[in-house]
Amino acid sequence: MILVLLGAPGSGKGTQAAMTGKTLGIPVISTGDILRTAIREQTETGLKAKSYVDAGKLVPDGVVAEALQSRLKESDCENGYILDGFPRTIPQAELLEELGISPDIALSIEVPDSDIERRMAGRRVCLTCNAVFHTEYNRPKAEGICDICGGTLTRRADDEPETVRERLRVYHEQSEPLKGFYERLGKLRFVIGAGDVMDINRRITEALG
Ligand code: AP5
Repeated sequence: MILVLLGAPGSGKGTQAAMTGKTLGIPVISTGDILRTAIREQTETGLKAKSYVDAGKLVPDGVVAEALQSRLKESDCENGYILDGFPRTIPQAELLEELGISPDIALSIEVPDSDIERRMAGRRVCLTCNAVFHTEYNRPKAEGICDICGGTLTRRADDEPETVRERLRVYHEQSEPLKGFYERLGKLRFVIGAGDVMDINRRITEALG
């Protein structure tokens, strides 16, 4: 199974990908996590990506595609994976098809823009394992500490309100057209992403059939 998750920033792709990946027994490949790790470690990819991520813009297709392709060569991807955050533009979707990587399903998580800012303001992420928490909706057991690995929780630099607004603008302009791309291929499915995290996960399981 190759599953692509579509949806606005903060729609819950990372949260739901982690749950669905566990259910299906396949890894989650998040280009956002790959880029943030590269930025922290100041690799060549990280240095190229940093200014774009900080500004809420998309990183150039070539930079992301290279990082993704190298991750997909790892052995845990042999039986399928969930792509969280890729593709994000039509050229990225076309590149996947050219590489012979044809997703089985593209699932779009639908959340109104009006809910997004509140979600982003309370988001905390683990610096070690990238697990996602929320100060109100998904609290860690101990404040500032990751339940899963004990790492430090932090606020993402691109979760500042102004940057979130820019990311939403970029999403509607450059990423939302992907719904039409996958609809034409007969692969698009939708779930309502508002409400309780567990309910949304049940809807996703149903949508995947
Ligand atoms: P990326 O990390 O992919 O960010 P994103 O798509 O903007 O999505 P987010 O990670 O912000 O949100 P999410 O949908 O995963 O929501 P989450 O589950 O965390 O990309 C970051 C940047 O990297 C981009 O801006 C770009 O610069 C670059 N980039 C990445 N991929 C790229 C590509 N392919 N091409 C070019 N550039 C690329 O949930 C959000 C919060 O809400 C959490 O705190 C969570 O606990 C909470 N929450 C989740 N579900 C619920 C719920 N049902 N109710 C209440 N709260 C909830």
